[in-house]
Amino acid sequence: MQKVGIDTASFYTSHYYLDLKTLAQARGIDVDKFYIGMGQRKMAVTPPDEDIISMAANAAHYATVDTDLNNIDYLLFATETGVDQSKAAGIFLYKLLKLPASCRIIEIKQACYSATCGLQLALNYLKLNPTKKVLLIASDVASYGLNTSGESSQGAGAVAMVLSANPRLLVIENESGIHTEDAMDFWRPNYRDYPIVDGKFSCNLYLKVLKECWRKYNQLSRRNLADHDYFCYHTPLPKLAEKAHQKLLHVNGLKKTLPEEMEQQMGNALKYNRIIGNCYTASLYLSLISLLENTKEDCSHHRIGFYSYGSGCVGEFFSGVVQPTYREVLPTEHHQFLLARRTELSEQEYETFYQFELPTDGSSLKLPKHRTGLYRFAEINQHKRIYEKVHNK
Ligand code: CAA
Repeated sequence: MQKVGIDTASFYTSHYYLDLKTLAQARGIDVDKFYIGMGQRKMAVTPPDEDIISMAANAAHYATVDTDLNNIDYLLFATETGVDQSKAAGIFLYKLLKLPASCRIIEIKQACYSATCGLQLALNYLKLNPTKKVLLIASDVASYGLNTSGESSQGAGAVAMVLSANPRLLVIENESGIHTEDAMDFWRPNYRDYPIVDGKFSCNLYLKVLKECWRKYNQLSRRNLADHDYFCYHTPLPKLAEKAHQKLLHVNGLKKTLPEEMEQQMGNALKYNRIIGNCYTASLYLSLISLLENTKEDCSHHRIGFYSYGSGCVGEFFSGVVQPTYREVLPTEHHQFLLARRTELSEQEYETFYQFELPTDGSSLKLPKHRTGLYRFAEINQHKRIYEKVHNK
């Protein structure tokens, strides 16, 4: 059977962040609610000249450095914060990344789950076309509005992955446990800027669906919990991923993990998420990169269990085996440099970025230049978004 999976992966996030202690102070909330109760320290905040497309281009640039772009047959762009109802966000990357004209490009949506759906669709294609590649991108800006209960679980980021046969990073195994329900836990009607969320219900549903997905995966694969060395969960807030881990132990008849054991079991997989925040479709794959880049021991040949969840809702539990070349293909230094050089925002600066509005009447606006990656959102003109490569980088 042809082995398929993730060949390379890279993430990108904004150069700006808000420390949740600043938010706590501004909203009159005890900071421990965020730091301890939610396990979140910082959240990425995008400046006006950064969006899901510029973040995607920046992530894809590093994920494709040693990939022959002519072999990319598909660009699948997963997002739930798309910028257009018709044109796929990925089309903007065609020129920026110099993709071949033979590449099919589409946008896919099912809340935070869609990147996983893209992964599974692509892997079936690659089994039949093992010389080809698929570029899968997950990119989102999570925002709930100022002064809302979801405000502390915002964030922004993109993960780009090249998928291939005989991958150098992770082989994805065949068995998946999938569970779908029609539920209204988190949704965003077309006429709204921010989602409507039933916070507690969404967390409970996320955990309930995990149990169903695990049961089906366990039946199909005949793998037990002990057959997995690590776990990565969709991470809207790190505390929920820890609760998911406890739930998985519980349904498998194991005792509750103590806080210090939890840090040992989940700390590396949550390290980047704790300081970037929720990035919806990208958050599970950000957790994978975090796990592999922060685990000191060699993860080669180790199996990771993945739980993907998208409100509305679809969940999937699946697994992958880390390949011995994984360290060679991860741009770890670049990621750590990006995180180390971020600029902290004051509450006022955060609100100014947040409240920035693009013209909606077709007038043109050149966006003010902030710190960005190699690609930025430069201008809007007659309702058309224009992106540019930053040449002095
Ligand atoms: N010290 C320590 N802990 C404290 C504390 C303090 N001073 N004050 C509160 N806490 C704890 C609480 O006990 C609680 O812990 P438990 O959940 O273990 O009980 C935790 O901090 C959070 O407190 P609250 O439940 O009171 O927080 P809240 O009502 O403000 O809302 C939230 C939290 C529901 C997650 C909210 O941020 C929200 O709605 N977020 C958006 C929705 C979301 O992320 N849902 C996740 C599942 S849906 C999904 O996965 C899709 C997606 O990406 C959105």
